Amino acid sequence: MAQAIFQTDKRIRVGIWGLGRGSTFYRTCGLLNMDVVAGCDYNQHMRDRFAQENPGAFVTDDAAAFLAQDFDAVVLATFCPEHAGDAIACLRAGKHVLSEVTAFHTMAEGVALVEAVEQSGLIYNLAENYPFIAANMWLARRWKEGLFGELMYGEYEYVHECRSLCYTYIDGTPVIPGNQVHHWRSWLNAHYYNTHSLGPMMLISGTRPTRVVSLPGTQRLPGYLTVDAQSKGGIAPSLISMSNGAVVRNLMGATTNDSHIQRLWGTKGSAELVDGRLRLRLGGGGGSPKFEVVPRWDALGELAEATGHGGGDFWVLYYFARQILEGTPAPFDVYTAADCTIPGLLAYRSALENGRPFDVPDFRDPAQRDRFRDDHFAQPRYDTRRGLFSADADETITREFALTMRDLISGAMAYEAYRQWTLVQDDLAEPARKVGVIDALIAALPRLNEVQEAAHKIIAHAPESDGARVLGEMLALSGEEVTRQPGFREQLIRERDALAGAS
Ligand SMILES: NC(=O)c1ccc[n+]([C@@H]2O[C@H](COP(=O)([O-])OP(=O)(O)OC[C@H]3O[C@@H](n4cnc5c(N)ncnc54)[C@H](O)[C@@H]3O)[C@@H](O)[C@H]2O)c1
Repeated sequence: MAQAIFQTDKRIRVGIWGLGRGSTFYRTCGLLNMDVVAGCDYNQHMRDRFAQENPGAFVTDDAAAFLAQDFDAVVLATFCPEHAGDAIACLRAGKHVLSEVTAFHTMAEGVALVEAVEQSGLIYNLAENYPFIAANMWLARRWKEGLFGELMYGEYEYVHECRSLCYTYIDGTPVIPGNQVHHWRSWLNAHYYNTHSLGPMMLISGTRPTRVVSLPGTQRLPGYLTVDAQSKGGIAPSLISMSNGAVVRNLMGATTNDSHIQRLWGTKGSAELVDGRLRLRLGGGGGSPKFEVVPRWDALGELAEATGHGGGDFWVLYYFARQILEGTPAPFDVYTAADCTIPGLLAYRSALENGRPFDVPDFRDPAQRDRFRDDHFAQPRYDTRRGLFSADADETITREFALTMRDLISGAMAYEAYRQWTLVQDDLAEPARKVGVIDALIAALPRLNEVQEAAHKIIAHAPESDGARVLGEMLALSGEEVTRQPGFREQLIRERDALAGAS
């Protein structure tokens, strides 16, 4: 990269804590005067990859040894519910922190984090990246210019089914050892992961949340573990009052249609981002003209786009580096991080209490913090180490669980897609679209048949276990009575060829 982004030779020595998601940052660090000098992760395979891609950097599984190294800043991408404690440890070690979302897991942790940042005099940013995709940056700029007036209502969605991530790391590797489940993705209620949708609405409209309410949704998808009626695998909608009097709907969760739809209604105009197309209605009336616009990037945007996640990852790292090098405040300081994180914590509580509304405190104000200093309320955790199988289960069998479950989920989804599209194939606008669905099932079938066998073996060994329950739920979707029939593959090939020939 020839272009110098900052007009200084100063370098920032960076350590990355958590090398799953954390590994997506270090390539961009080089563009932003950042040298990655240390990495830390419990996982051997992630440390190996880090060492390979950052030759000469210190790498360890020991957080204390990591924080004792001589560097300036941490990119913190450890387990989601542990971020506050880990960020405070970094601050105490004298490091600036760029923390992955979300900022904290309880209200008391939020207070502790805000005060640790204040006492340290160091920089804390939240790496909330969704406000910094091209469309949202464009909207934020135009909103500030007054094009849309005041926000009246908004709906942003971060609906992500991610069932297999309950049983794998982010790189798709099954959890090690295989009789355990993911540390937090296996159980965390989706209200807790609320910043990718609320963050953009806040930053675009320049408002902060003031009150939140959520009704419980108790329907769950198969294949998810449960700790209570509000566990992972369901839908998590909340309604939030904003500081200017607007109301927004923040929708997270897991259901059968992943969605990032974004819609904003202002007093002068509206915007909606659907399937990557940004359309505006301008003219001040409900029936005013509605056209698509091309959200052009700010300076550096082209480069940002090339670094992944629609450019968002670049911008959070850029703002962090800029604040360290030049002192310019980044958009997501610890107070904005608290504004964004708190409604998720309180929405979960609201749903548990059948829709009781909660005021959202402003942690800039020490008096408001005081009320939450000892508020340690949190969702009950699933026992990720020992919850799946009882202690006397044979580990040579149960350690096959994570790999089996991962592949059973993908095979079952391939079959279910085939089964359901067959039900409506006569009504398809483009019948040839089903060819891809059949091809995916043909490719998945050999492994699906293997993991059906493997799942039965685990279920027979521990029939009353949670592991057996979720395997059984996915087996039920995998169409065993059809997919294990001799000749099914040949039948699929014939069907595929006939469809492809007809199109
Ligand atoms: N903004 C985004 O687009 C985005 C995308 C993915 C993940 N994330 C966030 O990034 C964070 C990390 O996500 P992930 O997908 O890598 O999942 P993850 O939770 O599996 O990763 C955490 C990693 O940190 C390691 N780790 C945790 N605590 C540690 C400790 N004390 N010492 C050493 N190693 C430790 C784990 O071994 C693991 O590899 C999560 O909080 C997630 O919310 C954000």
